[in-house]
Amino acid sequence: METGTTTSARYRRFADLEARGYSPLYDDWCTGISDDTELLAMLDTLPPARRQPVLFLGAVRFVGVPLEGFATFRSFVLARWPEIRQVMRTRTTQTNEAGRCAVLLPSLAAISAAEGRPLALIEVGASAGACLYPDRYAYRYSPGPALDPAGGSSVPALDCSTAGPVPFPQRLPDVVWRAGIDLNPLDARDGDDARWLEALVWPEHTFRLERLRAALGVVRSEPPLLVRGDLTEEIVPLVDRAPRDAVVVVFHSAVLAYVDAEGRNRFRETMLRFAAARDRPVHWLSHEGHGTLAGVDGAMERAPEELDGRFVLQHNGRTVARTGPHGQSIEWLP
Ligand SMILES: C[S@@+](CC[C@H](N)C(=O)[O-])C[C@H]1O[C@@H](n2cnc3c(N)ncnc32)[C@H](O)[C@@H]1O
Repeated sequence: METGTTTSARYRRFADLEARGYSPLYDDWCTGISDDTELLAMLDTLPPARRQPVLFLGAVRFVGVPLEGFATFRSFVLARWPEIRQVMRTRTTQTNEAGRCAVLLPSLAAISAAEGRPLALIEVGASAGACLYPDRYAYRYSPGPALDPAGGSSVPALDCSTAGPVPFPQRLPDVVWRAGIDLNPLDARDGDDARWLEALVWPEHTFRLERLRAALGVVRSEPPLLVRGDLTEEIVPLVDRAPRDAVVVVFHSAVLAYVDAEGRNRFRETMLRFAAARDRPVHWLSHEGHGTLAGVDGAMERAPEELDGRFVLQHNGRTVARTGPHGQSIEWLP
């Protein structure tokens, strides 16, 4: 059972390893929290899984904390704790990052070209579904091409730095069907859901906030089919619902960390079976953090030099690239 000491260590670690250099405000707040016995005691009234820094920070921002130093943050939390606590008990971290489409696009386009068919996309752990629209965004690869959808994009171009032999597409693939599965699908048309997604974007990342707002506009204009449920239970029936004249790609990004080892193993076995099917192969793209697949037999080899915070992109269980977790970079492996 976690105690105040370990909650303190958790916030200290978050400040030192995740926020420093990336969000000075979260660094300041979390360093302050880690030394504050009163705030730590309040956090410890929640179950351990609900004490996580990203959930707390998102909840405090959702309730409306001013973006100022730790003293203001602390007073705000003490004054508004019942509302903050309620958000922490009912919401989960569901950051939806359209930027990840930049690292999925080369594989999606290559699959569509190789199969000679448009795409039917299924995202497991889709949140509000912003990653289901890779054909609607503009891309700026550096070095690499600029790609724009026909008719332009209402979303700021997704910038992605590149290394290695990335198989850049010449044009964006066609997507004829899009669907997602989530334990708690968020509705881009719902004001509170959209505000929650905004609260999860770190304060200094204004370009990500702008991108999120624009991407949710794309989702609202043509909402995807979003199924509520567990990815291990819902994936087989959803694949069955996909149109037969399209090539089905099941993908996920920053999801498997929330699934236990047994669930990951089951999901992986299902996906490898789908990928090997002769009658109707389904492609599987996994974009997850290092270590997420640890414990799943043969899913990923880990080397110490790879533990640098980057994600791993796999196609049908085979590692093809290392990436920036928000889609900001891709290094294609030879
Ligand atoms: C960090 S968000 C990532 C959202 C999106 N994939 C992206 O990259 O922007 C993880 C999502 O996975 C969902 N999730 C976690 N475990 C799940 C499960 N067992 N089945 C379905 N969805 C799950 C969460 O509800 C959340 O919306």
